[in-house]
Amino acid sequence: MTLNSDAKKQLPHDFIWGFATASFQIEGSTDVDGRGKSIWDDFSKLPGKTLDGKDGDVATDSYQRWKEDIELLAEYGVKSYRFSIAWPRIIPLGGRNDPVNAKGIKFYSNLIDGLLAKGIIPFVTLYHWDLPQALHERYGGWLNKEEITQDFVHFAKVCFEAFGDRVQNWLTINEPWCVSAIGYGYGRFAPGRTSERSRSAEGDSSTEPYIVAHNELVAHAHVVKLYRDQYKRQQGGQIGITLNGDWCMPYDDSPENIAAAQRSLDFHIGWYADPVYLGTDYPESMRKLLRDRLPRFTDEELALVKGSSDFYGMNTYTTKLCMDGGNDEFQGNVKTTFTRPDGTQLGNQAHCSWLQDYAPGFRALLNYLWKRYQSPIYVTENGFAVKDEHTKSVEDAIKDTERVHYFKGVTASLRAAILEDGCDIRAYFGWSLLDNFEWADGYTTRFGCTYVDYETQKRYPKDSAKFLVKFFKENVAAA
Ligand code: NOJ
Repeated sequence: MTLNSDAKKQLPHDFIWGFATASFQIEGSTDVDGRGKSIWDDFSKLPGKTLDGKDGDVATDSYQRWKEDIELLAEYGVKSYRFSIAWPRIIPLGGRNDPVNAKGIKFYSNLIDGLLAKGIIPFVTLYHWDLPQALHERYGGWLNKEEITQDFVHFAKVCFEAFGDRVQNWLTINEPWCVSAIGYGYGRFAPGRTSERSRSAEGDSSTEPYIVAHNELVAHAHVVKLYRDQYKRQQGGQIGITLNGDWCMPYDDSPENIAAAQRSLDFHIGWYADPVYLGTDYPESMRKLLRDRLPRFTDEELALVKGSSDFYGMNTYTTKLCMDGGNDEFQGNVKTTFTRPDGTQLGNQAHCSWLQDYAPGFRALLNYLWKRYQSPIYVTENGFAVKDEHTKSVEDAIKDTERVHYFKGVTASLRAAILEDGCDIRAYFGWSLLDNFEWADGYTTRFGCTYVDYETQKRYPKDSAKFLVKFFKENVAAA
C-alpha cells in the first residue's frame, strides 16, 4: 500500500503554535499593585462606548488567575503563549522620567517563569493599546512623535532589561491600523478621537490618523534599533511588528473593482508594511487620495523604518469583497460586502458584522504577503466569534461547531500554504485563549477557544480548543 505523500508531510518540528491574549482584555485588577490608568479605563466607562456598557475592571481576572491560565495552557500542550505587557503596570505614569513599578515587573516576571517551567515559549507584545492615560493627557500620546518615541523606547528598554533574559520573541505594536484609524479616525476605540474633531484648517477630513500611524512606525523602528543594538546579540531573540489585514477580493472582474481590492490591501496593510518591509513611501494609492495629509518620511526615518521587523506578524480574520466607491477614506474609498453578485454569502456569519468564515482567503493572503514582503510570517492572531454565543448556556457554547468549521478551513489553508505553496510560515496563534473583553463590543462578542463564565470566572475548554490542539499535535513533526 502506498501512502499519499502529501498526507504524510508534516509542518517543521520548530513550528510554533498556541493561543494569544492581551493585557487589558484579560487582566482586570486595574487598580491593584500600583497600576496606573490606561486610556481604555475611563474610555470604556463613558456611556455608549461599549455595547454592553461594561469595562475592563474585572475582565477574565487573569491578573489574579495567571497560574490557572498557565495550567490551562499546559493542559492544552501548547508550544507558546502570546500575551501583552500593560505599560501602566510597569510605568504607571508612562514617561521616561516616571518611576518604575516593581510590582508590575514582578507580575510579568512570575508569569514568564511560570510559562517557562511548563516549557511554554513566551511571545510578548509591548503595546496592545493600553497607553498610560498620563501620556495622553501630558502631550497627546501617539500624536506627539518626539515624546511618544522616547517614552515608548524607555518602556521597551525597561522590559528588555527585566525580561529579555527569558523572552526571545518580541512584538512592538499590535495592529497599529486599529490604533490610528479606529482610535483617532472612527473614534470607536480609545482615545476616541474622530475625524470631526481633528479636521485640518482647510476643513479637509482628519489628519490625526495619518500622523499617529507615522509616529507608530517611527517609535516602533526606534525600539527595534534599541533591541538590535543593545540586546539582540546577548539575549538571542527576535523582534517585529504585528499588522492586521484581511484578504480583499474584487467583487467582480470590472477593472474598478479589481483596483479597489488592491487599494483596500494598500490602505490596511501596505500603509505599514510597504515602509517596513520594502523601505518605500506609503502606497501610491494612499498618496494619491490623501496627498499632503499623509506625512512624509525624512530620509533618516525611512532608513530606520526599512527592515525594522525580523518577521511579518500577521493578524487576520476574514475576506472581503471589494467595490470601488463610497467616501470612507480609512477604507480607501472602497465599499465591502460578503454577498457575491449571485446573492450567495462567502461563508458563515460571525457574531460581529465584519467577519465571515472563508478559508481560501487565508491561503491567498499568506501567499500575497509572502510574495510581496518576503519575510517569514508569524500568524499572531486568527479566530472566529460564534453568533450569539454570549446568550448560550455553557453546555451549548462549548460545542462551538462554527468555530471548529472555521479553524478546520484555516488550518488546511495553513498546511497548503506551507507544504504546497512554499510560503515561509513559522507560527500560528489562535485568538483567543479565553473569551474576554472585546473592546467596543464589551463581553457580547466571544472569541475564546475556552469559555469563561463571568459569574464564577471558571474556564471551560470549547471543542475548537480541542480541535486546534489535535491539529497541531498531529501535524507538527516531532523534534
Ligand atoms: C485583533 C486585536 O488584536 C484583538 O485585541 C481583538 O480582540 C481581535 N482582533 C478580535 O477582534
